[in-house]
Amino acid sequence: MANETFSPGLEGVIAGKTAICCVDQGKLLYRGYPISELAEKVVFAEVAHLLLYGELPTKTQLAAFREMLDGFHGLPKEVINAIRLIPKHVPMMDVLRTGVSMAGHFDPVKGHTLEDERRRAVWLIAVCSDVVAARYRLLQGKEPVAPKPGLRHAAQILLMSHGAEQDETSIKLLDLTLILYAEHEFNASTFTNRVIASTMSDMVSAVTGAIGALKGPLHGGANEAAMELILRFKTAQEADAWVRDALSRKEKVMGFGHRVYKHGDHRAHILEREMRKLADVKGRQDLVAIYDAIKNPIVNKDKPIYPNVDYPCALTYYMLGLPLDLYTPLFVCSRVTGWCAHFIEQQSDNRIYRPLSQYAGHPERSVPPIEARG
Ligand SMILES: CC(C)(COP(=O)(O)OP(=O)(O)OC[C@H]1O[C@@H](n2cnc3c(N)ncnc32)[C@H](O)[C@@H]1OP(=O)(O)O)[C@@H](O)C(=O)NCCC(=O)NCCS
Repeated sequence: MANETFSPGLEGVIAGKTAICCVDQGKLLYRGYPISELAEKVVFAEVAHLLLYGELPTKTQLAAFREMLDGFHGLPKEVINAIRLIPKHVPMMDVLRTGVSMAGHFDPVKGHTLEDERRRAVWLIAVCSDVVAARYRLLQGKEPVAPKPGLRHAAQILLMSHGAEQDETSIKLLDLTLILYAEHEFNASTFTNRVIASTMSDMVSAVTGAIGALKGPLHGGANEAAMELILRFKTAQEADAWVRDALSRKEKVMGFGHRVYKHGDHRAHILEREMRKLADVKGRQDLVAIYDAIKNPIVNKDKPIYPNVDYPCALTYYMLGLPLDLYTPLFVCSRVTGWCAHFIEQQSDNRIYRPLSQYAGHPERSVPPIEARG
């Protein structure tokens, strides 16, 4: 066939058009707005509105959006009971995948018009945070806590997880990470979601599949893996020695590198600045010293590799006192917004994804009778 090309990992392949997000060496835009401005000037609900509806909300639209989100919180008791039945050792990401899939059987939105799909997306934003918070509490032997209408989404997640409203610093920082994680063009989980959308399947199936893709340590799972790494060391010297040895062995360090960004990740710059301020407030320069000891040899090597957003996010979440296995699920609580926006965009102008493969198997042969198969 003409025009056949082979690119492992689809590197450099343009697999579709999108108006949602632009990821480039020099910039990251959500619907045209630079991430640095969004991080400074808006809250997560405004970003969610921007991604799903195409524009930042007016005051009235934001109030209506929040009311809709508040109204969707609260899992059916059947879903909570199903979560209760999952063995305690099962990772939170697996519980989230099951929880979203199970909640799908109780989807309160019935139709499939554009407006229905947007409402379903808002419902899924609520479902993800509800499942994570419910599981977290059940694991501690506590019952899920009802949300409090009117709170910011980050505040709501913290309230539902801890059972009490949290301080403004924690809310602001969690909100910032939700903004930074909300959308990132054709990354692996969004692409998974778009492939499912392209079969004209449903939004819950697409989000469930995307959660499976995000879980891997080469993708969203990197924030948990990065924190596990930081916690391995007691001193900066130990971390420095380990990382130099790891680089010489060509071992990958989680939280570093990116398929597109080769000169640094904008989100990481923004979050690292805030993470350092938080470390001052919390008096955790010991952790920052280890963070820097891991980072410096990697960014200073001949072919530098830079931290991605997961690296500063890991230490931010840690200093906020969040348990490790909540880090990637919190990524989902935000990225579900981008996935749903892409689902809607894909189905609005669809062609099924069906690439080719290069056959590397046995040459053609005849089927031998069973007696002759050795
Ligand atoms: C993100 C990632 C999957 C991108 O993969 P990719 O585009 O296929 O890049 P490659 O794995 O081909 O890496 C290119 C080179 O950089 C090196 N490299 C990339 N990421 C690295 C890392 N985290 N630590 C050490 N070296 C790394 C590779 O070893 C390779 O070196 P080489 O050219 O000498 O062989 C990869 O950088 C990675 O695994 N990072 C760690 C996981 C992570 O943080 N994921 C979150 C992404 S937001």
